[in-house]
Amino acid sequence: MASADDLMKKMVSLCKRLGFVFQSGEIYGGLQSAWDYGPLGVELKKNIESSWWDFMVRRRADVVGVDTAIITHPDVWRASGHVDNFHDPLVDCRKCRARFRADQVEGTKCPECGGELTEPRDFGLMFRTMMGAVEDEAAEVYLRPETCQSIFVNFRNIVTSSRQTLPFGIAQIGKAFRNEITARNFVFRSREFEQMEMEYFCRPADADRFFEYWKEERMSWYLSLGLKPASLRFRDHAKEELAHYARACTDIEYAFPFATGGFGELEGIANRADYDLSAHMRVSGQDLEFIDQVANEKVVPWVVETSGGIGRTILAVLLDAYYEDIVDGRERVTLRLSPALAPVKAAVLPLSRNLEAGAAEVAGMLRPILPVSFDVTGSIGKRYRRMDEIGTPFCVTYDFESANDRSVTIRERDTLEQVRVGIDNLADLLCDCLRKGWRPAVEKAGLAAAGRASE
Ligand code: GAP
Repeated sequence: MASADDLMKKMVSLCKRLGFVFQSGEIYGGLQSAWDYGPLGVELKKNIESSWWDFMVRRRADVVGVDTAIITHPDVWRASGHVDNFHDPLVDCRKCRARFRADQVEGTKCPECGGELTEPRDFGLMFRTMMGAVEDEAAEVYLRPETCQSIFVNFRNIVTSSRQTLPFGIAQIGKAFRNEITARNFVFRSREFEQMEMEYFCRPADADRFFEYWKEERMSWYLSLGLKPASLRFRDHAKEELAHYARACTDIEYAFPFATGGFGELEGIANRADYDLSAHMRVSGQDLEFIDQVANEKVVPWVVETSGGIGRTILAVLLDAYYEDIVDGRERVTLRLSPALAPVKAAVLPLSRNLEAGAAEVAGMLRPILPVSFDVTGSIGKRYRRMDEIGTPFCVTYDFESANDRSVTIRERDTLEQVRVGIDNLADLLCDCLRKGWRPAVEKAGLAAAGRASE
């Protein structure tokens, strides 16, 4: 297996070579810390987003979703405390001019050239821009540095329109922007990224209970993506580490190979109390209290927030799935992605070019049901390996018998086991494999999985 440093290098190169992630603006030398998702990356990302949305919104009666504007009213960030507090301490090297976050360098010397560092000063992390034709202070707006503030700002609209009653949550997936001083470690820390956030509004007395509840729920979602339990852990924030809005915060961390201490943040679960709603009430002058018609009382709800990053989840999923072994005397790289996340669910591969027409028919039959790839070029062994490398769980081989016996062979990515199945039953069996897993689905179909496929 690859060492930690090695693994990261291999992952960055695999992502580019296979079309998961590219550096943005690469032909112009690349825009540092901005990343583009390629054809496979965008599918993986959509699968993660839809898993989150199902888990957090669709399968629950007590959470609704929103999708709000990225460009936000400047008062939102004055009220939220970001204009005053959302800074990182910046130090410059007097010799080579490199810039660092003061809390990420040890001592007073530049880690790159040994030069002397300046005293730390505050560096605002929000991206500012101008809206409209006149570029003056009144036109100044911000790109949101977190998606949740628009949830708080819309609180009354949502309560009124969706008739929710406490406790309930509002969820959103969307872009956020931070002018990070040092953006690094691939998509782990970038200046443009996506968040999956949910704000759960409850009575103040229930906040501790829901904080514990959401910690467990969120961990169970990461496990449902197929991440290994040993790669994940909780980490409670110490009091002095808490963000300006938080009473308590626990991170869910993943064993990122580059992380100091072996683990890095995937998501934060925070008890934000009534910080945000009260701040927006103060600055806007609007009443954002919740009116409980049954108890006949008014309350400013407290909030338990779950806030995760899509880029970090994608990176964790890819790293966790990366697997090397030797098959038929040759090295093989596999992404052991959970079938639900795999960008391609099945590949249809004719054994020879002469079989292309029959195999294309099978692929055409599957395409309305599953994301399918069809590949005719190269030896069958090479085509299997390419599919293993992008995490495709099932390869369907159309061979010289297929036209006669109306059957094909399915090869499973991790066990390399195979079954022969009638073309008419193929779609049902593949769907069952995706839902229930390979062995249970094959057994249920009354088929016998033969040993490892030879390539
Ligand atoms: N609303 C709370 C909030 O934004 P945060 O801990 O600053 O909290 C939440 O961010 C999540 O967003 C992080 O756990 C991480 O997954 C993701 N995130 C934050 N900054 C990021 C960056 N520069 N690049 C990529 N992901 C980032």
